[in-house]
Amino acid sequence: MNDRHNTASLLAAASIAAVLATATISWFDGSRAQTPTAPAPATVQPATSSPAGSLPLTQIPFYAEWAASPHARRDAEPFNHWNKEGAIPVACARCHSTPGFLDYLGADGTAPGAVNHPAPVGTVITCIACHNDKTLALTSVTFPSGLKAENLGAEARCMTCHQGVESEASVDKAVAGIADDTVGPKLTFINVHYRAAGATLYGSQARGAYEYPGKTYAGRYVHRAPYNRCTSCHDLHTVEVKVSDCAACHKEVTDKRSLHLIRVSKADYDGNGDSKEGIAQEVELLRGRLLGAIMDYAKTISNKPIVYDVHAYPYFFIDSNSNGAADKDEAKFPNKYNAWTPRLLKAAYNYQFVTKDPGAYAHNPTYTLQILHDSLSDLGAKVTVDLAKAKRP
Ligand code: HEC
Ligand code: HEC
Ligand code: HEC
Ligand code: HEC
Ligand code: HEC
Repeated sequence: MNDRHNTASLLAAASIAAVLATATISWFDGSRAQTPTAPAPATVQPATSSPAGSLPLTQIPFYAEWAASPHARRDAEPFNHWNKEGAIPVACARCHSTPGFLDYLGADGTAPGAVNHPAPVGTVITCIACHNDKTLALTSVTFPSGLKAENLGAEARCMTCHQGVESEASVDKAVAGIADDTVGPKLTFINVHYRAAGATLYGSQARGAYEYPGKTYAGRYVHRAPYNRCTSCHDLHTVEVKVSDCAACHKEVTDKRSLHLIRVSKADYDGNGDSKEGIAQEVELLRGRLLGAIMDYAKTISNKPIVYDVHAYPYFFIDSNSNGAADKDEAKFPNKYNAWTPRLLKAAYNYQFVTKDPGAYAHNPTYTLQILHDSLSDLGAKVTVDLAKAKRP
């Protein structure tokens, strides 16, 4: 509690609000220069007529750290995707803009828990997104599955955005009434979204991945304290992983890249005979095997070869020339894969869940390995999958 009050008073002392309000440094809140013809923002935006703040930027606590963080990257796709439309739709604004996040929290005077207005384009995630009266009181997060994580601390802010937009429920709803290996002409790929670290960390308590009936799944990953929250493994403002902290216990860690070598558990999860390789490598090998099984299944059961391109939406495409690679002319939206069976869709959903959380091996290695295993063995009902030597955690 004390920490929070300190933050509030520090922030007040720094006159953040006043600083944000100055037109001269409006880039500080990520806004593009507002032209007189720009549409009136639907929600909170710093007034441009308020008196100037008195603190130079260099004296604002954590300004430099924040400015170097991905949350301040004004040119990044997540903050520019809607420029042509001129506004960020209600369904996207929460996580892709400061006004949208404030709207979701109810800090704009509207009801909390929903975005009420499209947000203006041209903002990033600024100080006031994470530091306001509502974030101080934020102790729970509702995942796309409807499940809720409670009694949270400051990490609730991170998890409000880093939680994905789909869940097991969306997959179940889409495949209802279709036999496992029947192509559903109306089925389309379901994309959990990106960097959904909160859903990974909470595992079965969030049901962000597709969990197969009859199997049990790990809940929240409880790493040794205090390294069990977003805000203890990641720097609060640069959001980089605190590599030197990890190195204190994990001797294999010398730099950021070597986080992939961290290993404590002893079983051979991927069945390659090496149980000393990094836990990240166990995840990677199984992830690769899962894509292989997805491709085998699509070719033999759906009768239409599939390829995956990690950079091209919606990621799974028809492999028209059956060469097993996502060629340039294949990885295009109109060529999106269209012969989904429920079994294939579930496996592909889980493949994307793991692929789009590059920290999955640290956020919840147990849950991550479990869903990879189960996706593989489910496909194994129809194509050859050998998990004899691979241990499911
Ligand atoms: C619950 C929060 C949340 C919601 C809602 C949300 N996003 Fe995102 N989105 C994210 C996060 C977090 C990332 C950051 C991924 C990263 O770090 O690369 C992201 C990234 C993206 C990207 C960049 C993808 C890439 O590969 O770099 C696009 C495009 C995007 N979102 C579109 C949308 C659209 C369209 C909507 C609304 C239909 C939406 N998002 C709703 C959280 C959300
Ligand atoms: C993505 C969310 C996020 C953004 C953006 C952000 N912060 Fe923070 N900040 C946090 C969290 C989480 C904490 C730790 C909990 C707390 O003290 O509120 C924190 C703590 C702080 C503290 C107290 C640190 C301490 O040691 O007690 C200050 C001061 C602060 N932030 C200032 C800023 C300023 C100034 C900006 C903009 C330049 C900013 N923050 C942007 C999330 C954020
Ligand atoms: C208002 C929504 C929001 C909040 C709150 C938020 N994030 Fe983010 N985060 C995003 C978006 C959007 C991106 C993508 C930004 C970009 O591509 O530059 C992102 C990017 C990141 C990245 C870099 C991912 C990459 O692709 O390199 C990390 C790490 C991260 N956030 C961690 C955190 C942590 C830790 C917190 C809490 C202290 C937090 N985020 C709070 C929306 C949010
Ligand atoms: C046990 C420590 C730990 C915890 C707890 C943790 N992370 Fe991570 N996170 C990592 C590691 C390690 C990586 C991967 C870094 C790498 O391999 O480059 C990572 C990666 C990420 C990434 C992707 C960064 C990128 O470069 O693409 C995001 C986003 C992220 N974490 C957000 C969060 C959020 C949000 C939370 C809380 C729900 C969280 N993390 C909790 C350790 C942790
Ligand atoms: C105080 C010592 C300590 C620190 C510091 C620490 N860890 Fe750990 N870590 C452990 C222990 C003990 C385990 C195994 C049991 C557990 O999960 O608590 C573990 C397990 C892990 C695992 C799973 C390994 C496996 O084989 O399943 C990962 C990944 C991990 N830690 C990442 C990190 C990261 C990233 C950091 C830094 C942000 C970090 N740890 C900091 C003690 C620590």
